[in-house]
Order: sequence, then structure tokens, then C-alpha cells
Amino acid sequence: MKALLVAGARPNFMKVAPILSELMARGHEAVLVHTGQHYDARMSEAFFRDLELPDPDYFLGVGSGTHAQQTARVMEAFEPVLLEEDPDWVVVVGDVNSTLACALVTAKLKYEIGCWLAHVEAGLRSHDWRMPEEVNRVLTDRLSDLLLTPSRDAKQNLLAEGIPEERISFVGNVMIDTLFAQLPKARALDVPGRMGLDRGKYAVVTLHRPSNVDYPAALGAVLEALARIAQETPVVLPIHPRTRKNAEAFGFSPVLERVRVIEPLGYTEMVSLVDGAAVVLTDSGGLQEETTALGIPCVTLREQTERPITITEGTNCLAPWPLNGEGVSEAYRFALERRERRGARMAPEGWDGLAAQRVLNVLESFSTSGAGNM
Ligand code: UD1
Repeated sequence: MKALLVAGARPNFMKVAPILSELMARGHEAVLVHTGQHYDARMSEAFFRDLELPDPDYFLGVGSGTHAQQTARVMEAFEPVLLEEDPDWVVVVGDVNSTLACALVTAKLKYEIGCWLAHVEAGLRSHDWRMPEEVNRVLTDRLSDLLLTPSRDAKQNLLAEGIPEERISFVGNVMIDTLFAQLPKARALDVPGRMGLDRGKYAVVTLHRPSNVDYPAALGAVLEALARIAQETPVVLPIHPRTRKNAEAFGFSPVLERVRVIEPLGYTEMVSLVDGAAVVLTDSGGLQEETTALGIPCVTLREQTERPITITEGTNCLAPWPLNGEGVSEAYRFALERRERRGARMAPEGWDGLAAQRVLNVLESFSTSGAGNM
């Protein structure tokens, strides 16, 4: 079996890593394509190094742009690669623009070259069409032959959209495979200690959603909340390039000085920092899952989440919406108390470090059953 795996942006790399390594362990042919949606060393190279990913077979170098530009550039650059490689499977992960772009190209060529499209992390829904990722999720799922879900609730979302049940397979969460594999190394790194932070006595924040950082009112409200929390406890903010650029443009540099702003961290360093935190405040999807798996309370700085299982079975809660200084500080205090009350914890089903094995089991059985006539 020959599989072509697509990675484009930071949150893709940890999803692709365990699938690639399982493909190779089972003797399949694997081709890794990096679209170049993320290109800064700290957003890309650092992850390849930490995750021991091989250099990509193809680097498409698409870079930043509007949604249309970025999606179109990935499509144009990916099409000749797909024709050249002629794989049995194209595997896309997550919900970034590169995911949809490569899914679209594959869907239009798959009958000509005889390949199937699999989406890993299928069926997550925020039901908020203002999020570019929601558009990417729904369309990628609609185009895919095989929908591999990270949690049981995702199947209902897909069935409700008319996706045939036989295309859906629950595999669990591949990102947690990577988290568990890297955790010993992350703990040995002791990033909190190296930063002079006491374990369990600081907050970690990440912020990059356009809805939070592209508008002065929204970004101002979040930063005000962080400055309030920073009066009680150290707040560490590994800053996304988009957030830094906007904070400076909107004149928020003085507020930023009230929290501990650092450059984006590599994967292992970030896990080390998060693992020692009292609370994480974030608008990232991945961190909602990682904190649930680690048992660290998480306050999600969004109106809703496409990962409700992190609330019902995990450590996540939503900050009151619209975000404001008082509401976020209260959610933070509530999360801190929950940490103190926390008892034994069970991770959601399939968040067990074995998801990539299940992905491969499904790809292999799908290939041999000839289910591609669907
Ligand atoms: C993308 C994903 C988002 C994911 C996030 C993780 C989409 C629609 N969004 O958002 O789902 O959660 O990645 O980080 O695909 N930039 C750099 N260096 C880089 C990459 C980006 O400076 O290596 C800056 C550029 O100014 C760029 C901006 O960040 O314009 C946004 O990058 P982009 O790839 O469009 O989306 P993200 O906000 O990173």
C-alpha cells in the first residue's frame, strides 16, 4: 500500500507523525508532503525535529496569504505531486486550509488515478460557520471516502450530514499518541524549572484565532483579562506570529508587558510547559485535547468548541462569551478550584496512544475489501 500524507500547519505535524511511523513500521510506502502553510522555524522545523519526522518528500512552499490565495496555491502545487506519486491513499489530517485544498485536488483526480481519500480527525463540528476551520472540516468530510473519528460523538455529526455509516470509523485521537510518546522527554526537559516557574503555580496562554486577535476590541478584552490574572500568578504567553503582529499594530504592547511573552515553543518544550501549569487558557483546538489527556484544567477562549468531549469527559470549560476581563478571570479561578478538587481521571475512549495503529488497521482492511466502489 502506498499512502501520501499531507501536513501544512503547526497542529498537523503531531497528527501526521504517529501515522507516518506506523505506515513505515508495517512496511508500507509513505510519501510526506509539507505544503509550507507554516514556514517559520519555530512553527515548523522545530516540530519536525522534536517529533523526529523525516524531511518531507515534497515541500510546496505556499506560505501565507488570504484564504483563497493560500488554498489555491496549495491546490496548484499539490496536483502535480499527486499525479506523479499516484498513491493508493491520500491521508489528510485536521482542519487547516492545506487539509481542504489537498482533499479537493484528490477528490477531483481520484477516479482518474484510482486512489482514496482518508480524513483523520473527521466529524468535529463547532456549528459556527464564521470559523474558516468549520468550512474546512465540513467540506473535507464531504469529499472523503473514509472518515476516521477521534471521539464517538463525531459519528453523529457525520450521520446528520448524510455521510454513509460504512465510511465512518472510530480510531481515537492520534495527537494523544504523540503526546504520550513525547511526555517522558518533555518532563525531563523541565521547561518550568528552566524558566524559574514553580510547577502548578503558573498559567499558560495561547491565542491566535482571528476572532480573538484580528479585532482591537476582542484582543484588548483578552489581554486585559490576562493582565488581571498576572497580578495573582505568572502568566506565560508563547505568542503566535499573527497575535504579535496585531498586538503591536493595535498599540497593545504595554499590556503585553504585563505578562511573560515568549517566542512560540517547539512541541516538546510546550508539552513540558503545559504539563507543569496550574491552568491553561487557550483558543487552540489541540490544547483543549492535550490538557484533557494530561488532567490540566483548561479555559477555552471561544464561544463554542468542536471538541465537546473535552468538556463532558475532560478538564475543559468555556469562558463566558463575549470575552471580557471579569468573565475570563472568573473562569480562571473556577478552573483553579477544579484543579484542587480533581480526583482520579479517565481519558476519553481511544485517547490511549494506540490511535495510529487503528488508523492503519482501517486503511489496510478498506484497501483489501475493495470498498472503493462507493
Ligand atoms: C492556522 C490554521 C488554524 C490553526 C493554526 C495553528 C487555517 C485556516 N488556520 O492558522 O486552524 O489553529 O494554523 O497555528 O488553516 N505566520 C508567520 N509564520 C508562519 C505562519 C504564519 O508569521 O510560519 C503569520 C503570517 O502573518 C500569516 C499569519 O501568521 O499571515 C496567519 O497564518 P495562517 O497560516 O494563515 O493561519 P494561522 O493563523 O496560523
